[in-house]
Amino acid sequence: MVARDAWGSRFGFVMAAAGSAVGLGNVWRFPYVAGSNGGSAFVLVYLAIVLSFGLSLVLAEMVVGRAAQRNPVGAFRALGGRGWAGVGYLGVFTGFVILSFYVVVAGWTLAYLVFTLTGRLDTTDAAALTETFNGFVGRSGAPVAYAALFSLATAGIVLGGIGRGIERANKLLMPALFVILVLLVIRAVTLPGAEAGLAFILVPDFSKVTSQTLVDALSQAFFSLSIGMGTMLTYGSYLSRDINLPSSGLIVVLLDTLVGSLALLLVLPAVFSAGLSPGAGPGLTFITLPAVFAQMPAGHLFGALFFALLLIAALTSAVSILEPTVAYFVDEHGSSRRRTVALTALACFVLGIPASLSFGALSDFKIFGRTWFDFVDFLANSLLLPAGGLLTAIFVGWVWAKPAVFNLANQGRLRLPWAPLWLVVLRFLAPLGILAVAVSAVI
Ligand code: PHE
Repeated sequence: MVARDAWGSRFGFVMAAAGSAVGLGNVWRFPYVAGSNGGSAFVLVYLAIVLSFGLSLVLAEMVVGRAAQRNPVGAFRALGGRGWAGVGYLGVFTGFVILSFYVVVAGWTLAYLVFTLTGRLDTTDAAALTETFNGFVGRSGAPVAYAALFSLATAGIVLGGIGRGIERANKLLMPALFVILVLLVIRAVTLPGAEAGLAFILVPDFSKVTSQTLVDALSQAFFSLSIGMGTMLTYGSYLSRDINLPSSGLIVVLLDTLVGSLALLLVLPAVFSAGLSPGAGPGLTFITLPAVFAQMPAGHLFGALFFALLLIAALTSAVSILEPTVAYFVDEHGSSRRRTVALTALACFVLGIPASLSFGALSDFKIFGRTWFDFVDFLANSLLLPAGGLLTAIFVGWVWAKPAVFNLANQGRLRLPWAPLWLVVLRFLAPLGILAVAVSAVI
């Protein structure tokens, strides 16, 4: 057997895991979900979930992966026996579902980068921008072609393997993302009238917190931290046994939260300063923000930087959604990486076609009252990821707890006084919390 690929350094691993976490979820989804859920009250609930369940599950996945040195299916089978392999299969399936709609939105991002550079978005008229957006996403050819280009770029990185593909790309792209983000935030908060946006983010209005807020915050947390489908598990499986996992996991969670918070500071003040509404939904970054850029001096430059930022975020995440599936076929079936990457990326792209057409040709085709795009988004974020997280918590908390703590402590070499608390979260808090939210979602 060939030696398994591995991260070249701890920094490389942390950048890759942060690159996975930081994605469309932070920059595109978080501001509009927070925007339509009352702003800061939502953010506080979100932070509480991330720091309790979120961090605990990130560590749970990473430690399972590192101990087993295998893909999700192989890892659960090796540590828990045949029955638990199902959790891995669930993850591989979830990866297909997520990537199929992820490439669609990432394709829009690529298109919008092009549109900004070619001046197609040069108008402050919100109605015209809405029309541009709806017109574009409703076409059958162009958005699909952009999704195809994006899928190719993703496959290209995953093809390079862990050290030379994924790690190298992330070590370059993540620092770039951070620099662009800071520049844009400085620009946004110094716009005239930005205060209203800042107040919206900073002053909580708890009257807006309902059980729906909890559901939205929980699914946002799982999606944003890449937990519940084996991504962190797979990334953990390329680690050597001696790195400090708890501190690495904490850094990843903090970076993800920092970027999410900065994205709020970028998007909401800009939207308020342009006198627009934060409740625009998924179109917020594609309709509302171009209007903001069109009003500001050097708006082309800032617009292009923004869509470049979104594209980088999407690319490093898409790579991490594909990798668990690729690892599964490579580890368990001995397939070649090349062939597997080509086939899985193609499959995700093909599944993405109906998601893209949901905005046009297939907009009348409904499953349980939702378009195909909304259905797969709902399926992944509200059902599959929480289910995967629930089962992972139960596995580590109840079935594999002792070895998990021992492994997390590097075979007893690290002192982890908080380990009992970690187990309490995995055993009780996370399962009960996820179930409660699931039940309230159904009702
Ligand atoms: N965390 C990514 C984002 O915020 C999405 C993702 C989900 C990546 C699940 C991997 C696994 O966009």
